[in-house]
Amino acid sequence: MIDRYLAHNFAPVDREITETSLDVIGTLPEELSGRYLRNGPNPVGAVDKDRHHWFTGAGMVHGVRLEQGRACWYRNRWVRNSETIKALGEIPSDAPVSGVNNTHVIGHAGRTWALVEAGTPPVELGYELDTVGVNTFFGTLSDRAFTAHPKIDPDTGDLHAVAYHWPDFGDHVQYVHVGRDGRVQRTVNVPVPGMPMIHDSSLTEHYVVLFDLPVTVSFDLLGRGMRFPFAWNADYAPRVGLLPRNGEAMDVIWCDVNPCYVFHPMNAYEDGDGNVVIDLCRYERMFQRDVQGPFGDSLATLDRWTVNPRTRVVSETRIDERAQEFPRCHPGRNGKPYRYGYSVAVEADTFPAINKIDVHTGVVTRVDIGPGRHAGEPYFVPRAGAEDEDDGYLLNYVYDQSRDASELMVLDARTPAEGPIARVLLPARVPYGFHGSWVPDGYDGPSV
Ligand SMILES: [Fe+2]
Repeated sequence: MIDRYLAHNFAPVDREITETSLDVIGTLPEELSGRYLRNGPNPVGAVDKDRHHWFTGAGMVHGVRLEQGRACWYRNRWVRNSETIKALGEIPSDAPVSGVNNTHVIGHAGRTWALVEAGTPPVELGYELDTVGVNTFFGTLSDRAFTAHPKIDPDTGDLHAVAYHWPDFGDHVQYVHVGRDGRVQRTVNVPVPGMPMIHDSSLTEHYVVLFDLPVTVSFDLLGRGMRFPFAWNADYAPRVGLLPRNGEAMDVIWCDVNPCYVFHPMNAYEDGDGNVVIDLCRYERMFQRDVQGPFGDSLATLDRWTVNPRTRVVSETRIDERAQEFPRCHPGRNGKPYRYGYSVAVEADTFPAINKIDVHTGVVTRVDIGPGRHAGEPYFVPRAGAEDEDDGYLLNYVYDQSRDASELMVLDARTPAEGPIARVLLPARVPYGFHGSWVPDGYDGPSV
């Protein structure tokens, strides 16, 4: 079996660190006071290499706290579940523990949440990343299924999510609307003809966008004991659905697309003609040959889908044919017309550069981050009082092979090619992971 997802900087770290003496190269922006958090898989204890999947390792959140130009601490903490508690030799507490919350970490309603998909409820973390326990949005998430990728409505601060719950749902997925106060306001069960893996969604002014694509539960993989039993299903009809924000399942506008898989949209919005425009990282195939991670079948191109809700026709065009992933945009532009996006370049299974995408001109600027250095998801933080959409900072954990350790790299998003304005050197590797957030201090709104 392929073990690339345990090698190089995919390899897990073996301990938790608290470091309050951090070297900084350059100048940290004084206005950044808060925490840059990122979640990812970090298996603990012995790993069964034959049944391993990159997506199933125990969650570990890495955080750096900044305050008025200083780097105050770095911490990494496993997100506790029964498996990690046992492997770490800890005494179980009375707080309920969950599954593998390893995919995203967000701030919302004054709390910190570690998130994952497929039927595991959110886990609340403390300020210093200790595990508080399962929090079903204060008891309001009745079916306990959520997603790693809630979409923020920047106008209201509400979260909109599409959840699947294997094996409990079986015949539907669920739209979940969470208010700014962290309470579920509404759910809608949407029937689907199988059990698709729906990793992410999009939000526009009038719609929630569902990606119903041909990666589904595989009974073959289940029979082989694979920890992540989802695979390419050539018999499953790929489609994208537009659920009106206040609509019911019967109102979903389903539109066929060509066979593909999408983990992550960069953004989506409605154009002046009422079309839904979705920019996304699109894979030609997923989990067909490589059933232990996402990089062995095809690599993602950056594409644009323009969905006409009246004709149900989707036109597909390519923005950039170079492989990339973890696309993000200005959080205040989510669901709205926008100009700039950011992603990380993918070569085989490493991440050697950052992309700045201008969707107005179609120009994609590839930002070199230096030899032997590997980035992750770029997170954009707008500068206070900024008027230009790209006036802000790009935060990223970068692994530096020469030190065999990582750093928090801060770029000026207007001029990323000029190099970092600040680097916070960390005492250990931050293994390749998934998604993160900048959570400003004293902020009770969403930071997704
Ligand atoms: Fe994701």
